[in-house]
Amino acid sequence: MTDIGLIGLGVMGKNIALNIANKGYSVSVYNKTSQKTKNFVNNEAKGKDIHAYYDIESFIGSLSKPRKILLMVKAGEPVDNMIKKLLPHLDKGDLIMDGGNTYYPDTTRRINELKETGILYLGMGISGGESGALNGPSLMPGGSREAYDLVEDILLKIAAQTEAGSCCTYIGNGSAGHFVKMLHNGIEYGMMQGIAEVYDILRKVLKLSAKEIGDVFEKWNGGELNSFLMEISYKIMRHMDEETGKPTVEIILDKAGQKGTGKWTVQTALDSGIPAPSLSAAVEGRILSYFKEDRTNLSRKIIKKHVETKYDKEKIIKDLENSLLFSNLILFSQGLWIMAEISKINDFDINISEVLKIWKGGCIIRAKMLDFLREIIDEDKQNANLLNNEKTLKFLMDKLDSVKNITNIAKDFYIPALVHNTALDYFFSMVEENLPANLIQAQRDFFGAHTYMRIDKDGVFHTIWE
Ligand SMILES: NC(=O)c1ccc[n+]([C@@H]2O[C@H](COP(=O)([O-])OP(=O)(O)OC[C@H]3O[C@@H](n4cnc5c(N)ncnc54)[C@H](OP(=O)(O)O)[C@@H]3O)[C@@H](O)[C@H]2O)c1
Repeated sequence: MTDIGLIGLGVMGKNIALNIANKGYSVSVYNKTSQKTKNFVNNEAKGKDIHAYYDIESFIGSLSKPRKILLMVKAGEPVDNMIKKLLPHLDKGDLIMDGGNTYYPDTTRRINELKETGILYLGMGISGGESGALNGPSLMPGGSREAYDLVEDILLKIAAQTEAGSCCTYIGNGSAGHFVKMLHNGIEYGMMQGIAEVYDILRKVLKLSAKEIGDVFEKWNGGELNSFLMEISYKIMRHMDEETGKPTVEIILDKAGQKGTGKWTVQTALDSGIPAPSLSAAVEGRILSYFKEDRTNLSRKIIKKHVETKYDKEKIIKDLENSLLFSNLILFSQGLWIMAEISKINDFDINISEVLKIWKGGCIIRAKMLDFLREIIDEDKQNANLLNNEKTLKFLMDKLDSVKNITNIAKDFYIPALVHNTALDYFFSMVEENLPANLIQAQRDFFGAHTYMRIDKDGVFHTIWE
């Protein structure tokens, strides 16, 4: 009898299985395409406590009770299909975990569908990609506490470890785990776009080579901007394409792909009524990148009147560093505000400080900034909007001139800087007492009799405008 079963031997599943076995647990594995299972046990898993099964019945028969099964299959229908196949063979108290990038409302639905069967269910976000899965990912399990308790030992051990502890914690009720993973990815899109915009300015304004940009990124990575994404970015800048002898980054087509988690984050933000323009801008940046043909044609039709470079290189590099810190903080503040709001609406009961702790290792958005954010959350638990905190405000104000300078330079050079610009406009909106929404209210009342409120007395008013 084995300790745990894993279904889905793709990039992630194989490495999670190896990780679990490396921590001293026995693992049963099953994959839809049996050849992949054979290859796995005869190669990477050879000599490990990993056992292959080629039909669901014998796979389930190999598991010690209560059975624990981790699904690492493609999100969506494959998860529903696998649950359907497993159910007839499972008993009350057995546990199914979905470790894929599932849209959290799907997890809510599955939990509700399984309620009557007595089968326990966990929706677990996993971050860290291929190497994280093998060496220690950040794990975001959500569902019933009873379900979590069944696998806590294993999860705590296979997760990344930092000086703050294991990068796994019980996230909360229902689909809280998949919700938090979705938000993680939304913030990830933003951080990636922010770095890409800085890269664009460094190459187009300062005319730095990829190698020189790598040097700048490496230096930043040694300071406040330390993060996994900064680290891989400097390594990317130095990588050379063997075929052409050029930096690899320069031969990659500028069309960014996406799998939907960023879009879901923005959709969730819009539904919750929490402003998240920078998270949204990052998704829009990828969508815009896709229109290569239009962009190429249009770029040849307009004359870009560049201003003469009269900038101080060192100052720009310092301002870019500050602008990235500013936009990263805004991205996190937008994401964490959505987290607080959705947690309240859905009774997820998410402990945001704990989430920040498990994001410190293993995951794609691990960054030094998380310590600062955690300090703020811990001292200011009531503030869903981090900008209400004095330390946050000071952090942003200290960098404001740099962000203004960078966004102005970007404009001078016709360089789009969606995340940096929206971060600045978000900040300006948040610190502005008088927005022009009074005119919008007047327009709405003019054409639709939608009424408005006044600043000088209570009540709802309508004007006959002409
Ligand atoms: N890659 C990452 O960095 C990463 C990070 C975090 C989370 N995730 C999530 O983890 C999950 C697995 O990702 P992956 O990168 O390992 O994917 P992958 O390499 O594409 O593997 C997909 C797995 O799903 C199985 N599968 C597909 N359709 C199926 C079906 N109808 N029924 C049963 N099994 C089916 C495949 O089986 P066959 O071999 O038979 O086709 C394969 O084992 C996804 O939800 C993904 O979004 C990925």
